[in-house]
Amino acid sequence: MNAPSNAERPGSWRVRAQQLVSYEVRFRDHVFRPDRADVLEIGSGRRRFVVVDHAVDLLHGAGIRAYFDHHDVESTIMTVRADESAKDFGTAARIVEALDAFGLARRREPVIVVGGGVLTDIVGLVASLYRRGTPFVRVPTTLVGLVDAGVGVKTGVNFNGHKNRLGTYAPAALTLLDRFFLATLARRHVSNGIAEILKLGLIKDVRLFDLLERHGPRLLDEKFQGVTPVGDQAAVAVLHAATAGMLEELEPNLWETELERSVDYGHTFSPTIEMRALPSLLHGEAVCVDMALTTVVAHHRGLLTEHQRDRVFAVMTALELPTWHPLLEPDVLAGALQDTVRHRDGRQRVPLPVGIGGVTFVNDITQTELETAAAVQRTLAPTPPLPFP
Ligand SMILES: NC(=O)c1ccc[n+]([C@@H]2O[C@H](COP(=O)([O-])OP(=O)(O)OC[C@H]3O[C@@H](n4cnc5c(N)ncnc54)[C@H](O)[C@@H]3O)[C@@H](O)[C@H]2O)c1
Ligand SMILES: [Zn+2]
Repeated sequence: MNAPSNAERPGSWRVRAQQLVSYEVRFRDHVFRPDRADVLEIGSGRRRFVVVDHAVDLLHGAGIRAYFDHHDVESTIMTVRADESAKDFGTAARIVEALDAFGLARRREPVIVVGGGVLTDIVGLVASLYRRGTPFVRVPTTLVGLVDAGVGVKTGVNFNGHKNRLGTYAPAALTLLDRFFLATLARRHVSNGIAEILKLGLIKDVRLFDLLERHGPRLLDEKFQGVTPVGDQAAVAVLHAATAGMLEELEPNLWETELERSVDYGHTFSPTIEMRALPSLLHGEAVCVDMALTTVVAHHRGLLTEHQRDRVFAVMTALELPTWHPLLEPDVLAGALQDTVRHRDGRQRVPLPVGIGGVTFVNDITQTELETAAAVQRTLAPTPPLPFP
């Protein structure tokens, strides 16, 4: 068959192709229990290359190794110290070298990644670049991973001082969400993950907000392990609502052709704040500082009442999240907004909450408005503010 020619322009061809994207995100408790088969469901052959977060390996490595042995699969485990400051191209390149050394079969040996959002983002990027794309299976082990990084299709590393400056859109063939990894997660990281859940509650799902208002501290205490029946019910309800809500937002806009994304709430100023504060602020903490700022902006614009604003701040504080940060200085705010405008292709497209559970997008936020809001925000933050390590 001839290549499709363009009748209007002789000597020019337009190529049209479509790629169906289909991937599964599945809750599965205790994924590495020997009787579970999910991790090996994708691919074939008796070998797997597994990238495991260093901290996860120390805590869960024996079980992970025993799992592959039990299934008679030869596993090569690469451990990576993955925190935000290691989320760079150098780490990605080391993984590529290890894949070459392993001699990865291109399609039938999916790379398996077990770790937090940093590692799943890096390995997702590697997998999407390696031979222009090789399948991978994701097992997130942090709350951010479970409800956010592990749910969508974005991969990336930081570069040139910018957050996720290099990245791709590449879905994992299968993502397995196992809340029992959270048992060993530091309390601060649980709180950090709840920030992304709170985001969805604030701009999309008032029921989710109510759940966090009612059960947030218990979820933090129990680390979503269901120590009590009430805590168990709340943990499952919150995790499922967050994942479903996230996917509902992502699915119609997987490649971000639409740049007004409500899931970008809290992500207008936070990328700059997070990178400037590195390593003292975690991702979700920076997001919360941004949400606190934009909650005040929304209140000043009459989009939410004073009572709603105060409820939001109270929930943030009960979740042990920061509601203010010393970096909220005029020049930082201006620079952050400028960078976001470039990221959003020339317009602000800032999501603001409408009441609790609604959203609108604005393009006319002014510098004065931001500075006024940041000053008010400071007075609303608990005194003394949560300690910044
Ligand atoms: N791709 C996306 O759509 C998306 C969405 C949200 C966030 N992210 C990215 O995710 C990253 C943040 O992810 P994170 O919060 O998971 O951080 P992280 O991956 O750095 O993990 C946090 C810490 O917990 C440790 N850890 C991981 N699992 C553990 C466990 N089960 N028990 C004990 N310790 C454990 C890690 O070693 C690390 O020190 C950011 O880089 C952010 O950009 C990506
Ligand atoms: Zn985020």
